[in-house]
Amino acid sequence: MSVLFSPMQVGNLELPNRFVCSATHESMAKETGEVSDELVRRYEKLSKGGVGLSITGMMYVHPSGRGYQKQTGIHADRMIPGLRKLVDTVHQAGGLIAFQIAHCGRQTTKHLIGRAPLAPSSRGRDPMNFVKPKEMTEDEIMEIVKAFGAAARRAVEAGADAIQLHAAHGYLISEFLSPFFNIRTDSWGGSDENRFRFLKEIYREVAKAVPDGYPVLVKLNTNDYTPKQGITPPLAAKYAGWLAELGIDAVEVSCGTTNYSYMNMCRGDVPTAEFLKSLSWWEKPVGRLIIGKLEGQYDLEEGYNLAAAKMIRPVLGNTPLFLVGGMRTVSHMEEVLKNNSADFISMSRPFIREPFLVNQIKEGKMDKVSCVSCNRCLAAVPNEIPVYCYNKGFPKP
Ligand SMILES: Cc1cc2nc3c(=O)[nH]c(=O)nc-3n(C[C@H](O)[C@H](O)[C@H](O)COP(=O)(O)O)c2cc1C
Repeated sequence: MSVLFSPMQVGNLELPNRFVCSATHESMAKETGEVSDELVRRYEKLSKGGVGLSITGMMYVHPSGRGYQKQTGIHADRMIPGLRKLVDTVHQAGGLIAFQIAHCGRQTTKHLIGRAPLAPSSRGRDPMNFVKPKEMTEDEIMEIVKAFGAAARRAVEAGADAIQLHAAHGYLISEFLSPFFNIRTDSWGGSDENRFRFLKEIYREVAKAVPDGYPVLVKLNTNDYTPKQGITPPLAAKYAGWLAELGIDAVEVSCGTTNYSYMNMCRGDVPTAEFLKSLSWWEKPVGRLIIGKLEGQYDLEEGYNLAAAKMIRPVLGNTPLFLVGGMRTVSHMEEVLKNNSADFISMSRPFIREPFLVNQIKEGKMDKVSCVSCNRCLAAVPNEIPVYCYNKGFPKP
């Protein structure tokens, strides 16, 4: 039996195999943030398809951290019944589910949250939304720390098997960690230790809210690819070491930020025409110029976060490492695990196209996933339509 199908422990949870569905915003929640039947069906299919652990798309922990119209909320107790239905369905289908919890920070828009987006610093205007964020006060920081704790409590009440803190992709936690986004000079910035403090306080608050041994995971950027230096692999290794000391149960390594470097995050084709559909007529000419320039520069490389993962591996000790980003060929996945470069193989886009891929690999029917990284699934996000594989055609928004 392939090493990919050997079980492994994460916190008190035994995962039956080494396949993880990496968090993927579904754009399927009701506009109130509640779970919809369509969203439940997505995870039911994945669970029936044999994936070891499904991590949900990022759920917002506080109304000010909502990034998308059809994003799932975990910011209020009234969300719990829908979340519980989601978990129960996954369990009945034989799967395990982790909730990714997040605050979108400066990568949200005023029109969604009714106020200027919150961020560690108010530096510059966001290149996608053109908004200037508001530097958070001490009280606002503590309010969000507490909101993460409350969200963790709701996840446990809903029966989720684990929680993942979204500390990647330029959202609020990752903004605090990044010297590019965080130029504060108080105790929340100015040094690596201070920039790490927000994540540390959130972890402590979450740990108080969950039972002993309950798995708390972190998704961490290894490279921000921002115009000026943000997180780089050596800094990510430092943070990963501190996370291991704190007692985190697994670290997933990723890269890129949604608003400055989304093509680094999701290497592959640039779906210019589909992205442009989300813009109004007067934004299209500038959009075409900016997005068009990216075409042909981000060809998918198999396992594009592997080199960073190898830097981080030694500092983690026994803490499991999930590797995401361009994992496509079964022999390569096996090699990564055999070389001890990672413990779990995470994928996002391949599971959108083929939710049953794990069972197919197990039955020897697949040696390479068929996702071609056309990235039309990614273009569904700004168009606010449900995330599916649109390789054969993109619907009219
Ligand atoms: C449509 C779409 C939505 C995504 N939403 C999230 C998300 O909610 N949280 C997150 O951490 N990453 C998100 N990602 C990034 C993926 O989890 C993953 O890191 C990235 O796609 C690279 O992995 P892949 O090559 O297997 O697709 C998203 C990616 C896509 C394509």
